[in-house]
Amino acid sequence: MKVILVAGARPNFMKIAPVMRAMEKYNNANGAFFEPFLVHTGQHYDIEMSKVFFDDLNLPQPNVNLGVGSGTHAEQTAGVMAAIEKVFIEQEPDLVIVVGDVNSTMAATITASKLHIPVAHVEAGLRSFDKTMPEETNRIVTDVLSDMLFTTDEIANENLANEGIDPEKIFLVGDVMIDTLFNRMDAINASDVLDRMKLKVGEYAVLTLHRPGNVDDPNVLGGILGALKEISSKIKIVFARHPRTKGRMEEFGLGGEGLTISDPLGYVDFMRLVKDSGFVMTDSGGMQEETTVLGKPCVTLRYNTERPVTIEKGTNVLVGSDPERIKQEAFALIQGNDRQVQTPELWDGHAAERIVDILATKEGSS
Ligand code: UD1
Repeated sequence: MKVILVAGARPNFMKIAPVMRAMEKYNNANGAFFEPFLVHTGQHYDIEMSKVFFDDLNLPQPNVNLGVGSGTHAEQTAGVMAAIEKVFIEQEPDLVIVVGDVNSTMAATITASKLHIPVAHVEAGLRSFDKTMPEETNRIVTDVLSDMLFTTDEIANENLANEGIDPEKIFLVGDVMIDTLFNRMDAINASDVLDRMKLKVGEYAVLTLHRPGNVDDPNVLGGILGALKEISSKIKIVFARHPRTKGRMEEFGLGGEGLTISDPLGYVDFMRLVKDSGFVMTDSGGMQEETTVLGKPCVTLRYNTERPVTIEKGTNVLVGSDPERIKQEAFALIQGNDRQVQTPELWDGHAAERIVDILATKEGSS
């Protein structure tokens, strides 16, 4: 079965890696069944946004890199579509696997769908119900066109059912990001990043920030940075800064006073930072899941989340971009945290194996 896997941006790589590993394991046990072909769209291209993840996650080099790069949403989406169509026509895959919700995910899905190539979406059914997020459009379009939808939790299944998606296409398998977290735990524990950055366990907070809603408006970003400056008088804040945010801070003349700013880090070092931090402040999607599994408090600088299970069962608290709420939650965590958490069902490190078993069974029965 020839399978094209599509990755484009940083959060895709940790979702693709376990699926490729599970295919290899399946082939080793059952003979060569899956023939994977990895396409990197090049949406993210900086070393620290892309290459470092291939090294950290033991991902094979992509068979093709489309080199699409940055642009407006339309330019980026159209760029991926035009380039990936050629690859799909040349390679004639039996299936295309897309992950997550970035522009590359939607672009690959539309293109495959029009060529009548079946699409499987890993991490289907997440909904923030906020169409100002570009990812929400990507999720809805990807899901409506996908032939197999692999979900992380029951809430995602309900979202898809409410949109009229055929339940026979939906498979609750758990969270592939957590597969990666468990698989890389030895390397994470061996990272010397705390020594390199002169940090002590529990005595710092980790910060990431990149959502357009938080960083593209000077007043919003200025308000958040003001709150963080005050928090930094009580706890050291390590800010692994996304290129979008770096660009905006320079453009708006905002310095990030009080923050320990670094370039984006690789997966292994970054997860070690998270694991040994006092708490996390972020607007990322994936980190809400990783902190839930690690039992690490997560203050999410958003007004909504497509991952509500991390609030219901996990460590996640939404504070939006309101400086007072950010300070209130951070100061409360500095005082102490006694929140009990539960790991969502099937977030056990074996989601990708379930996906691969389902793909093999379906193919066998068709
Ligand atoms: C994208 C995803 C988002 C994901 C995030 C993780 C979409 C719509 N958004 O947002 O869901 O959470 O990735 O990082 O697909 N840039 C660089 N170097 C790079 C990549 C980007 O400098 O390697 C710059 C670009 O020039 C651009 C900005 O960062 O100005 C934004 O990049 P883009 O891929 O458009 O979106 P992200 O904000 O990274």
